[in-house]
Amino acid sequence: MSRINIQLNSNWMYYEDFRQEYIDQKFKDNGFCTVNLPHANKIIPYNYFDEKMYQFISCYKKNIRFSENYKNKRILIDFEGVMAYARVYLNGTFVGEHKGGYTPFSFDITGLIEFDKENVLAVMVDSSERNDIPPFGNAVDYLTYGGIYRDVGLRVVGNIYIDNVFVKTLDVLKENKKVKNIVYLKNTTGASGEVFLNAILKDGEEIVSQKCLSIRLDGNPENEFEIGLDDLSGIKIWDIEDPKLYKMLITINDNGYGISDNYEVSVGFRDVCIKNNGFYLNGNKVKIRGLNRHQSFPYVGYAMPERVQKKDADILKNDLHINTVRTSHYPQSRYFLDRCDEIGLLVLEEIPGWNFIGDDEWKKVAVRNVEEMIKRDWNHPSIFLWGVRINESIDDHDFYAETNNIAHMLDDTRQTGGIRCYEKGEFLEDVYTMNDFVYDGGDVILREQKIVTGLLEDVPYMVTEFNGHMYPAKRFDQEERLLEHAMRHARVQNAAASYKNMAGAIGWCAFDYNTHYNFGSGDRICYHGVMDMFRISKAAANFYKSQVDINKEIVLEPATIWAFGERNTGGVLPLVIFTNCDFIEFHMGKRLIGRYFPDRENFKNLEYPPVVIRQMPSIWVTDWDDGIFSGYYKEQKVKEKIFCKNPIAKELTGSADDTVLSGDGRDATRIVYKVIDQAGNVIPFINEFIKFNISGPGEIIGPDETALIGGCIALWVKSKNERGIIRLSAFCSRFISGEILITVN
Ligand code: GAL
Repeated sequence: MSRINIQLNSNWMYYEDFRQEYIDQKFKDNGFCTVNLPHANKIIPYNYFDEKMYQFISCYKKNIRFSENYKNKRILIDFEGVMAYARVYLNGTFVGEHKGGYTPFSFDITGLIEFDKENVLAVMVDSSERNDIPPFGNAVDYLTYGGIYRDVGLRVVGNIYIDNVFVKTLDVLKENKKVKNIVYLKNTTGASGEVFLNAILKDGEEIVSQKCLSIRLDGNPENEFEIGLDDLSGIKIWDIEDPKLYKMLITINDNGYGISDNYEVSVGFRDVCIKNNGFYLNGNKVKIRGLNRHQSFPYVGYAMPERVQKKDADILKNDLHINTVRTSHYPQSRYFLDRCDEIGLLVLEEIPGWNFIGDDEWKKVAVRNVEEMIKRDWNHPSIFLWGVRINESIDDHDFYAETNNIAHMLDDTRQTGGIRCYEKGEFLEDVYTMNDFVYDGGDVILREQKIVTGLLEDVPYMVTEFNGHMYPAKRFDQEERLLEHAMRHARVQNAAASYKNMAGAIGWCAFDYNTHYNFGSGDRICYHGVMDMFRISKAAANFYKSQVDINKEIVLEPATIWAFGERNTGGVLPLVIFTNCDFIEFHMGKRLIGRYFPDRENFKNLEYPPVVIRQMPSIWVTDWDDGIFSGYYKEQKVKEKIFCKNPIAKELTGSADDTVLSGDGRDATRIVYKVIDQAGNVIPFINEFIKFNISGPGEIIGPDETALIGGCIALWVKSKNERGIIRLSAFCSRFISGEILITVN
């Protein structure tokens, strides 16, 4: 029998409290409510809430009947993420515990299963900010939320099974490539003997290469074997432009004695390295242009399902056209990482933590986090660097020597980094990774690496944060602020591109995020994103968006709402257009104001510098007219953007990211509502109420009545455990939107 994976995500019973008697099989859980995973232990308001509201101990329970067919098998339970501390019980017996909310854990529950009756799985979940678990112990600029917020599953395997596989791709830049698979076997029988190990490399269903090896088990509970595939020809490499993935299938069998197992992972052949003179992908120098991502969402915090996790990767790569994301400040959903592999978005992943290092017990958890992170994620081709320091913490030689050591021991194919914000930190990693917040609008935009490192020679160097608190901007801020916010991102990326000895720069940050009262704007939000918490763009997002080949997408985004008196002292200058066109023509009404070219003088190093209109004929209120921007490529007009001189709210429109969901009671998608004017532009200062109506097999995540924020808002809709059609509409005082139909299969 091959392994069987069973999802355990539906029909949990949940209670906002924990008492020892709850774990008893006979306990009547009348007050419990039924929930599906991923689950937030508390639905929280958008802002101005007390962050203590989700910091409590709760109980999750699930009744499970195990098939008699699984007798004589091993049964493991896998938790992908429980915030922040979990104690697991089966049928009243303690199974195990786990500290840390961002890494997975598993328990072998075989011995505790009762096959003839209902088994009771109970989990005590402590979502308080416990001092013994990173990132806690001091201030933290983000919220960690609570609950069993990632998937749970059962793994039914034989008594000898594959626990993990590390697929190392070698000689990637040579014609004939190699793979070395390290296979980790668990032997629960103590038996020794011969077993056949197979490695099959597949391209879709087609077998590219395979090998079978006879191995000897020595009776030890844990065995490690190596099986290579050599002389692989015709293999396509994984690249950010064309992220080709293969599958590696590892199987074991013993010719009929009942041992058999299989394990499949995605493989990408790529060669990554940060050298003293920059970042190389498959031998080509690539400038890293990235953003940091927190995995949080309004109302449910971290508890979003696969589709929504994947959508974030799509937004970053396909809407914002960045090539790199840092999973600040912890390992993120495997679905997010899977999608990064699929679409070619590079990832810097790091261990949980924020500025503070705790005592020895705390450090042990952090060291374990390194191991858990790497063992979970070593097969993702998108991951090019492990962050093995606590973000922005001070030097701690022994601690960081250990985290680096472990990372190198586990994975000799990737470099380590360790994110710091102080100059001249002890350099124990392979890459000096620095949060360089020097730019405050003045002359210095990024520091020279030798000033930061204090070293005499160049080393592999990358900037992992900039901007953020130096210049927060709300999506509904005044135009000048939003423009300056965008320009700061542009200036820093331009500076990063100018340093030949810098791998690139990752900005702070992609999305606004919830935080504690003593950070951000006091309303529990840090408005540091280039998009808001709903993933709706600010002007800075359009800067990133514009850095793309025009043959992929034509971008023409003037950073203006086109109003005569919005800016200080009036007018619209400087008028900045984020674009990848060759030039633009700008009309006011019928009057051609001029032809303007990208500002190559101030943004020499950007591939697509913004067009900056600094001067135009003076205008007075009576001259105020429509603003018409035309983008040209190869002398052809390829795009036009019109702003009305007299915008009037015309319509409430909704658009859904997906129109088909799975009827599993967990799937979700986002719907963005906007009030638009005659030209289809968002009306930026409508902040009135909006109410959503839903029918069919779906429910709204969060409130069904809220307010438009700067003319738009989004919501997520979750499927119920039924099939049918979700009908969603919205209304505000002036408009009723059309109906959005989402099919639930
Ligand atoms: C950094 C920190 C981030 C965030 C950012 C705000 O120092 O690493 O987590 O707090 O500042 O700009």
